[in-house]
This record gives sequence, C-alpha cells and structure tokens, in this order.
Amino acid sequence: MYSLKDLEAAVKSCTRCPLSETRHNVVFGEGSEENHIMFIGEGPGYNEDMKGRPFVGKSGQLFDKMLQSVGLTRKEIYIANIVKCRPPGNRNPSEEECERCINYLRWQVKFICPDIIVCLGAVAAKHILAKDFKITRSRGIWYQRGKFNIMATYHPSALLRDVNKKKDAWEDFQAIRNMYDEILQQNK
Ligand code: URA
Repeated sequence: MYSLKDLEAAVKSCTRCPLSETRHNVVFGEGSEENHIMFIGEGPGYNEDMKGRPFVGKSGQLFDKMLQSVGLTRKEIYIANIVKCRPPGNRNPSEEECERCINYLRWQVKFICPDIIVCLGAVAAKHILAKDFKITRSRGIWYQRGKFNIMATYHPSALLRDVNKKKDAWEDFQAIRNMYDEILQQNK
C-alpha cells in the first residue's frame, strides 16, 4: 500500500465481512491529511451509507457544531470510523466485523500520522485504547501512546440521546482545542 488513495481503492472493493453484502457505499473517511488531527467514530449509519461520507446525518450535524464551538471545521480534521460499512439497522458493529476492518484504520493512521486521535464513543475507545474502556469514567483523559495523544469523548449520538452529557463533551472539545494549539505552537 503506497498511499491513502491506494488504500481507499482497496477498501472500496472489500468483501472481508458480511457488511459488504448490505452496504450501498463504503464510508472510507475524509478530511485533512495535513493537520494531523483525527476523529474516529464507530461505523456508518443510514445517511453515511447512502452518501459514502462519514458523519453526515443528525449526529454529524451535532459533531460539526461541536467542532465550530472550538473554532475547527471539517476541512481541518480527518474523520474515519472503526468499520467502513453500515451495520444493518444501525446496530453496533460485532467484534468480528471490527477485527476484520481495523487494519484499514491502522493504515489510515499510518498515512495521516496524527498528533491527536479522538475516539468518538465507547466502540472506538475500546478498539483504540483498551478493551474494557469505560467512556463515562475515562472520557476527557489524555493517553500518550508513542507519538499519539489520544482522548475519548462521548459519541455525538449519545449527546442527542442525553443532553446532560453535553457539558462534559464541550469541555473535552475545549481540551482537544488546547492540545491542538500546543502542537501547532511546537511545530512552528
Ligand atoms: N456514527 C458514526 O460512528 N460514524 C458515522 O460516520 C456516522 C455516525
């Protein structure tokens, strides 16, 4: 695999798991390859599957607002998911589906080489940080793994279900902004 484009072409014809049989489109991921800040969700929903783009439904709209609230836009970040095809009925992806797909994400991380990785929700955090990750207990904490600064925060759809979580999520986004500013400063 020589580039993110090659990887995208390979993922678009993937048939490694049964999700490939029900998908309309592969949702590979998109955004800036230069700014080195990466957000990782769980998997595409209905709207993402129809459009082939991540976070374009209701939770995506909220995600955009959260980015805006800390002065970021989609153009500055890269966004991808643990699984690239929609689990039918928007169920959580199974362990096996995640295992079969996660190498694609590992390659994306290699190509993008992010300084910051933000896991959106428990599914992403469990696959990236720790199998037993508890989002309510451990969100908002920075974990240093090699060159990566990794944090997990609530998935935007969790915030749509429970508005009481919004305050914590906004604090997490502020901390992400601060870390991003620190890194920009270091790289000057
Ligand atoms: N939820 C996710 O985790 N990812 C998307 O792309 C959309 C909704």
